[in-house]
Amino acid sequence: MKRLLSIVVAVMAFFTSFNTQAEENKMTENKILVAYFSATGTTAGVAEKLASAIGADLFEIKPKQPYTEADLDWRNKQSRSSIEMDNPDARPEIATKVTDMNKYDIVFVGFPIWWYREPSIIDTFMESYDFAGKTVVPFATSGGSGMGKSGEIMQKLAPKAKVFAGKRFSSGVSSEELKSWADEWLK
Ligand SMILES: Cc1cc2nc3c(=O)[nH]c(=O)nc-3n(C[C@H](O)[C@H](O)[C@H](O)COP(=O)(O)O)c2cc1C
Repeated sequence: MKRLLSIVVAVMAFFTSFNTQAEENKMTENKILVAYFSATGTTAGVAEKLASAIGADLFEIKPKQPYTEADLDWRNKQSRSSIEMDNPDARPEIATKVTDMNKYDIVFVGFPIWWYREPSIIDTFMESYDFAGKTVVPFATSGGSGMGKSGEIMQKLAPKAKVFAGKRFSSGVSSEELKSWADEWLK
């Protein structure tokens, strides 16, 4: 009987520690957010890969008014994207809201490079939350350009955050590469 009791206690202890471990993992995961804007799907692919590689929550920054192909025509000076990107004060509206930004310590912010920097809707995003004490790490996809001044501009829009310069990735970047890049902030 004594033996049976000690087996029962041992089994209970095992499951209790198992549960605690699972809860701890969940808590760590929930402190990291990958938020992204993507007009044609490339950045979305990288953001999804990153979020799953590091066990982060994923949030899409969806424009209230979606960008049409004509809106994205960078050759046309009168297209919506050209007009917005020509105006540093442009703040296109976002249709979605992060449920509880408070719970995140680290926010990776992904976007396509438009005219050598972050699209105006990212500026809207940076001004929409209190980033005090948070680490913000930009990442992007592009036709070849780097991050430009994206990080610096985003830092000015969220002065209480610590915004890094971030990195531009190609669409075919591997999960391993994304994970080892992100590890710098996750340690
Ligand atoms: C309006 C506009 C401006 C762009 N400007 C640049 C640029 O300055 N440099 C660059 O390399 N690519 C530029 N691109 C290409 C995008 O950065 C690239 O196609 C990106 O991967 C698209 O990501 P998405 O599919 O997530 O929207 C531009 C695209 C658009 C629509």
